[in-house]
Amino acid sequence: MTNQEVTQLLKKAYGDEIETVMNYLTNSIVLEGVSAEEVRESLESDIQEELGHAEMIGHRLKQLDERPPASYDFEARQESLQPPENSTDVLSVIEGVLEAEEDAIETYRSLISAARDTDDPVTEDLGVTILADEEAHRTEFRGFKREYE
Ligand SMILES: [Fe+2]
Repeated sequence: MTNQEVTQLLKKAYGDEIETVMNYLTNSIVLEGVSAEEVRESLESDIQEELGHAEMIGHRLKQLDERPPASYDFEARQESLQPPENSTDVLSVIEGVLEAEEDAIETYRSLISAARDTDDPVTEDLGVTILADEEAHRTEFRGFKREYE
């Protein structure tokens, strides 16, 4: 692993967090119906947390003499988080969130190990902090999914 791999992963994570903010916001607005309320509220609070992750990652990139990407560098990837045709289809949003969280967990695990290999404990610590948040989100949405099984 090189420093460049660490910064590439930080840039990817930054883009993913921003895309997650957009999709959680859209889904929290689109979803409706009695059974959607809990999930909508959870998405609303996660939006702030994911935005906080992007801020931390962006500042870490700056400390490493890099810049976080802006919209022209951005490639959308979260197919599973596109809002469902049926605005009461809560399960499809729950599954989309779980997929996004799994993807984030994988990215932060790679970041942690790349940072460790290049002796960058500050980035490693940042990765661990954010990974803990993503795992907590996954647990919460696994719980939501159980209600539909
Ligand atoms: Fe996040």
